[in-house]
Order: sequence, then C-alpha cells, then structure tokens
Amino acid sequence: MPHAKIAGIGCYVPERVVTNHDLTAFIETSDEWIQERTGIKERRYAKKHEETTTTMGARAARIAIERAGITAEDVDFIIFATLSPDYYFPGCGVLLQRELGVTHCEAGTLDIRNQCSGFLYALSVGNQFVRGGVYKNVLVVGAEMHSMGLDFSTRGRNVSVIFGDGAGAVVLQPTEEPGQGILTTHLHSNGTEAEQLAVIGPGSHGGYYGNREEYNFPESEFGDIFVYDGFEATGAHFPNMNGQLVFKTAVVKFPEVIMEALNKTGYQPSDIDMLIPHQANLRISQFVQKTLGLSDEKIFNNIQKYGNTTAASVPIALCEAWETGKIKAGDLVCLAAFGSGFTWGSALIRW
Ligand code: UT7
Repeated sequence: MPHAKIAGIGCYVPERVVTNHDLTAFIETSDEWIQERTGIKERRYAKKHEETTTTMGARAARIAIERAGITAEDVDFIIFATLSPDYYFPGCGVLLQRELGVTHCEAGTLDIRNQCSGFLYALSVGNQFVRGGVYKNVLVVGAEMHSMGLDFSTRGRNVSVIFGDGAGAVVLQPTEEPGQGILTTHLHSNGTEAEQLAVIGPGSHGGYYGNREEYNFPESEFGDIFVYDGFEATGAHFPNMNGQLVFKTAVVKFPEVIMEALNKTGYQPSDIDMLIPHQANLRISQFVQKTLGLSDEKIFNNIQKYGNTTAASVPIALCEAWETGKIKAGDLVCLAAFGSGFTWGSALIRW
C-alpha cells in the first residue's frame, strides 16, 4: 500500500497587518496583556468584500498545486477545513473548486468542521483516500477569515485579540518510497465540552442544550431559529471561549497525542526534527516543547505574526518552516492540534 506524501505546499496571508495597538481603538486591551498572555504581536485581516475564506484558500492552493507539478484540472478531490465559511451552505469545497476552475465533475469536495484541528482531520481523510488508491491528487486546504465574525468590543476581548486570517494548502500524492510521507495520523474528540469554545447561535438547537434563556433564543413556533434577533445583546453569534479550560486541556492533550504518534511508529521525542503545533497560544507551544524536551530549533512558532488562524495555522506554519529551509528532505515532522469540540489530533510525516 502506498503512503501519501506532501507533493506541494502553499500559504497565503492577507496584506493588512493589525497590531495589538490597533485593537486598542475598539477594545479595552493592551499590547502588553496580549503579548504576555499569548505571544501575539500582530495578525492579518483580509480585505472585506474583496477576499473571502475561499479566495484565500485558493491563493494558497494555487501555490501548492504549482509546487506539486500539476494543474488544477489534475485535482481529484478537495478537502476544505474551516470554521469561517463564505456561506452557511454550501461549503467552501465547491466554492474553491469553482474558484480554481476545476471544471470536471469527477472531482469531489468535502468540508471539514473541526475548527483548530480541522487541518489534521482533513489531512488524515486525504491520507486515507491516497493510501487506499482512490485518488492520486488530493488538495487539502485550511483557511479562515475570522475578522468578519469577531466581537470587536471589550466583551469579546479574550477571543478577538487572538484570531487572525489566512490560508494554507497541501497536495497529497501517493509515494512508493518506503518510510516516506505521512507515517501515521491520530484523531480524537470529546463532545462533553462542546460549548466551551463555540459560536452558539444561530443554529437548529434553539436552546435545546439548556441555554435558551442565557442566549435569548426567539420563542416563535415556526421558522425563526436562524434569526439573529436577540443575539446582539448576548453575543451568542460570536465565538465564546472558556480560555482557561481550553488552555489547561490543551497542554495535556498536545503531548498525549504527539506521544501516541511517536509510540505507534517506534520513535521518541528526540527523533522529531520539527514540531509544528497549532498556533493557539505561544505559552501552550512552549509548554509542549518543554514537556517533550525539544530544543528551540525543533519547534516552529509564527503566532507572533499571524495570531491564531485556526484551521489555517498548521499548514501556514508548515509552509513557512519549509520555505525558510527549517524542514529538509528526510526530516521527521510532527503536526499537532487541539481546539474547539474539543477535538485534537497529530500526524507524523517523513518529509
Ligand atoms: O485555538 C483554539 C484553542 N484556543 C486556545 O488554545 C486558547 C487557550 N486559552 C488562552 O490562550 C488564554 O485563556 C487566553 C489568552 C484566551 C486568556 O488568557 P487568560 O490568562 O486565561 O486570561 P483570563 O481569560 O483568565 O482573564 C484574565 C483577566 C480577566 O480580568 P479579571 O477578571 O482578572 O479582572 C479578563 O477580563 O484578563 C482579562 N482579559 C483581558 N485583559 C486585557 C481577557 N482578555 C483580555 C484582553 N486584554 N484581551
């Protein structure tokens, strides 16, 4: 059975730089607080009405496709991970297909809704399709346009200051080279904490989970469960996060799922040449680094420049690490993510 290898990789971040200081115009916050708690100095925001999650994904995808030595027409299957899609439905997969001009209908598309670990889930699914011989060129994209959906008031400050926009993409192809490509992937979830990092409304639950009054859901008999009425007051339509719980769980689950991948393949933390953690918080990454005993050269962080780009963070970091020569042929690269759901995952790749 072949392995899947990353044949091409690309990333894109919007031009507009938003510093911590810029945010102080809307939010009661400070550069000092944000840097100290998260490591973030600045993030990028897309040009509203000119860019979307899909168009950013397309920019990253075009680079990945070119580097894989194929054309968009060669793409057999698209997997798109995002929590900030252009439309409620259809998902970004078909929009990306249109944007790239993949006109043949044989190319299927799949949308992944696993937030911060979305790219790991997408990669894992793509890996299975390639390994099983179903597809030869699978395009895996993680992209987010958070800036359209954040609470830019002091109420949302624990969330809004950490998120940024961007996109990353890879093309997966089969390889018969023994020991090359994606060696293993591991996915997990725990739905008991679903609301701890979530956009609660609008949605079909209409308060089913006991939060009708808390979030001021409309009471009408028919047809208005998707209406935003009332959410303005409660902020239910913005991301809400129990930051401390997410932080405490992340620092346990990251090392756990990385060790799972290493144990499965017979490696140890010291065998890792480059760890690419989901860029959630620099303090989380540093904690994971310390737990695994990795030197500074063996972990890649760019949250300082881009903030947390959720499904895009792992492919953007992987792309930058590769572009700057920090990942070389033959390196053992570990990807890991944790976030909303809760969902988490890891992948081990021989580059
Ligand atoms: O990628 C998805 C997964 N997400 C994560 O992994 C995020 C994990 N969590 C975190 O990174 C941290 O919890 C945060 C950075 C989000 C928050 O840091 P924290 O140290 O947990 O702060 P906190 O929420 O406990 O808030 C501490 C204080 C509060 O004030 P009081 O009650 O002590 O007076 C907050 O109101 O900091 C205040 N605060 C802020 N102050 C200035 C919260 N956000 C801000 C802000 N600026 N942006």
